Amino acid sequence: MSTVILSAAGAALVLDVSAQGLPRVRHFGAELGSAQDQDLLPVLAAPAPPLLPAQGDTWYGRPGLSGVREGEHWPVRWTLERLDTDATQGAGGTVTVTAADERAGLRLVSELVMDAGGLVSLRHTLTNTAASPYRLGGLVCALPVPGRAGELLDFTGRWALEKVPQRRAFGQGVWSRENRRGRTGHDGTGLLVAGTQGFGFGSGEVWAVHAGWSGNHVHYAERMAEGAALLGAGELLDPGEVVLGEGESYTTPWAYFSWSGAGLDDMSARLHAHLRARPLPARPVTLNNWEATYFDHGLDRLLELAERAAAAGIERFVLDDGWFRHRRHDRAGLGDWYVDEGVWPGGLHPLADRVRKLGMQFGLWFEPEMVNPDSDLAREHPDWLLARPERMPPPHRNQQVLDLARPEVYAYLLERLDTLVGEYALDYIKWDHNRDLAEPVHDGAPGVHAQTLATYRLLDELRRRHPGLEIESCSSGGARIDYGILARTDRVWTSDSNDALDRQAIQRWTGLLVPPERMGAHVGAPRDHITGRSLPLAFRAATALFGHMGVEWDLTSASEAELEELAGWIALHKRLRPLLHAGRVVRADHPDPSALLHGVVLPDRAVFAYVQLTSRVTVGGEPLRLPGLDPQAVYEVRVAGPEPDGARLPDWTGGPVRLSGSVLGELGLPAPSLRPASALLVELLRV
Ligand code: DGJ
Repeated sequence: MSTVILSAAGAALVLDVSAQGLPRVRHFGAELGSAQDQDLLPVLAAPAPPLLPAQGDTWYGRPGLSGVREGEHWPVRWTLERLDTDATQGAGGTVTVTAADERAGLRLVSELVMDAGGLVSLRHTLTNTAASPYRLGGLVCALPVPGRAGELLDFTGRWALEKVPQRRAFGQGVWSRENRRGRTGHDGTGLLVAGTQGFGFGSGEVWAVHAGWSGNHVHYAERMAEGAALLGAGELLDPGEVVLGEGESYTTPWAYFSWSGAGLDDMSARLHAHLRARPLPARPVTLNNWEATYFDHGLDRLLELAERAAAAGIERFVLDDGWFRHRRHDRAGLGDWYVDEGVWPGGLHPLADRVRKLGMQFGLWFEPEMVNPDSDLAREHPDWLLARPERMPPPHRNQQVLDLARPEVYAYLLERLDTLVGEYALDYIKWDHNRDLAEPVHDGAPGVHAQTLATYRLLDELRRRHPGLEIESCSSGGARIDYGILARTDRVWTSDSNDALDRQAIQRWTGLLVPPERMGAHVGAPRDHITGRSLPLAFRAATALFGHMGVEWDLTSASEAELEELAGWIALHKRLRPLLHAGRVVRADHPDPSALLHGVVLPDRAVFAYVQLTSRVTVGGEPLRLPGLDPQAVYEVRVAGPEPDGARLPDWTGGPVRLSGSVLGELGLPAPSLRPASALLVELLRV
C-alpha cells in the first residue's frame, strides 16, 4: 500500500505512506473518481509536506512540533510504527498513525478523520517516552493547500461587532492570527480560509481551517519559497505551560479542515453537518430579560414580562444576571451562587413555577469562572484566583478569574451548579464569561491550558448529571464561539448587539461556522441599547427569524399592536422552524452592495430574505438570483410574512407564481424596492 484515500461527499484526502517517515498529504480537495493506489504512484515523486511538518522532512517553515529536552536536545525525525485505517471509498473513515523517535524520546499518534460530510478533523497526541522532562513549545495541525489558493479570508471584531471579514493576498510568509486572551475572543478569527482568486459564497475553490479550542490559539497560513503552502491551527502554549514528565501526553485540540469546489457556502455546509450530527430538540423561542430589566429583578415586573412573553408565543424564559447574592450591579456578587434571599424571599420558585404554568421552559444565567473581589467567595478564598497569590491581575468589569483546575474550586462550582439545576429543574443555562484572562497562573505555571480543560470537564460533568439540560455559550456576546465549546453546549450567544442592521452581517459571517439553530438571535428594543439606532419591528424580527429566535425587549413597555405583530413573527418562525433549523444555508453573491440575499433550502422547500441595508444607488434593483435550488424542480413562489412598510413590490409578489429552479437561479426574481432596514421574505414550495 502506497496511499490511503479518504473520500466523502465530493471531497478527498490522499496520504502517501510509501516512505518510512510520517505520511505526506498529497491532496486535499476534490474527489478523484475511482483512482486507486497504482493510479497515484506517478505523482508521488513531487514534494509534499508530512502530516507534521519538520526540518527532517525538509520543511523549513513553521514546525508542527516545537519543544526542548534540556541538555540533550534531539531534533525530531519520526519513524512510522503503524498505520490503522477503516477508510471506505465515499464514506470517509479514520486514519490513525503512530510514529516514534527513540532518540528524542517521543511518540506521536495522529488521528485524521473524514466524516460523511467530507469534513476533515485532525489531532495529534505527543507522549514523552524518556525519563527527563520535555518542555513542549507547541504542537499544531496543518494541511497543505495548492498554489492556486491565492487569497485569504479571516475575521476580526470587537465587543458587539463580531466576525468582521478581512481579505488579503496569500503571498509568501506567514499570516498568523494569534489569540492570547484566554478565551476564543471577539476578534478570534474562527475560520481562516484560503481560496482561488475572487472566491465567493457560491464560487471558487476554498480551503478553511478552524481550531476547536476555547483557550489561547493560533490559525495560520504559510507559503514557502519552495511554493508549498499550508493552513494550520492549534493551541498557543506559553513557555512552561506544558512540561511532559515520563509517560505523560499532550493532545492537541481537534482542528477542522473544510474544502469546497463551489465557494464558502459548501465549505460551511460541511461544518454545519458536523455539528448537526448531534441533533437538538426543536429550538424553543426564548425570552431573555437582560436588556428588558437588567439588574432590576422585581418579581411583579418579571411575572408581567413572563405573561406577555407567553402570550406572544414564547416558549422559554431565561433569567439573566442579577438573581444571586449581592448582585445588584456588576461590581459585586459573582461567585456567590445562592439565590439572593433579599430580592427573592421565596427563592426563584414563584417565578419558575409561573413560567412553567404559562407553558414555558425556565433557564438561568451563570458566569462560573468569574468572581468579584466584592463577594463572600473572594473574601473566604482569596487564594482561589487564577493568579499569583501575591498580586491580582488587572481587573475587567470589576471581576477576576477563578482557578478552575484547583480541585476545591471545581468542586464548589460543580456543587453549586448541580444543586441549582436540580432545585429549579433548570432546562437551560446561559454560561457567560465576561473577560479576557490576564496574567493567568495555575500552580506556579501559565494557566490557560489547565483552565480550558477544567471548564470542559465541568461542562461535561454537569451534562452527564443532567442529560436534558441545554447550555448556551456566551462570552460578552460572541467571544467564545468555537467547536471545543460547541461540543458541549447547544447554542452560542452570537453578539451582545441586538441591532438588526449590525446583526445581518454578524450572523452572516458567524453562520459560516455555526448553523442557524445554534446561533442565538433576539428581537431587541425599538431603539437599540448599544448603537442607539431605531429600527422597525418587522426588520428586527426578520433578522432574528433566521437564527435560534428570541426576544430581549421589555415587553411590558410594548404596545398591543407591537405585541400582536411580534406574535405574528414568532408564529411565522415556528412554522418555518423545521426548515430554518435543518436546511442548507445559502448566501447569494448579490452584486448590489446595498442589499443582501440569503436563505435556507431543503429539497422540498426554501425560504429567502432579501435585505435592504442602505439606500440603493440604482433605480432598479439587481434580480434576486436564488442559489441552492434544484434546477430541474418547479417551485411555487410566494411572499412570507407581512409586506415591508413603504415597499414597491413587483408583480410576482401578488400571488403564487410557479418557476423552475433554473429560472430562479439564473434569471432570478425581479427585485422589489425596499426602504433601508427592511426585508422581504420569499417562501418556495416544490410542486
Ligand atoms: C454579557 C452577556 O453577553 C449579556 O447578554 C448579559 O448576559 C450580561 N453579560 C450580563 O452581565
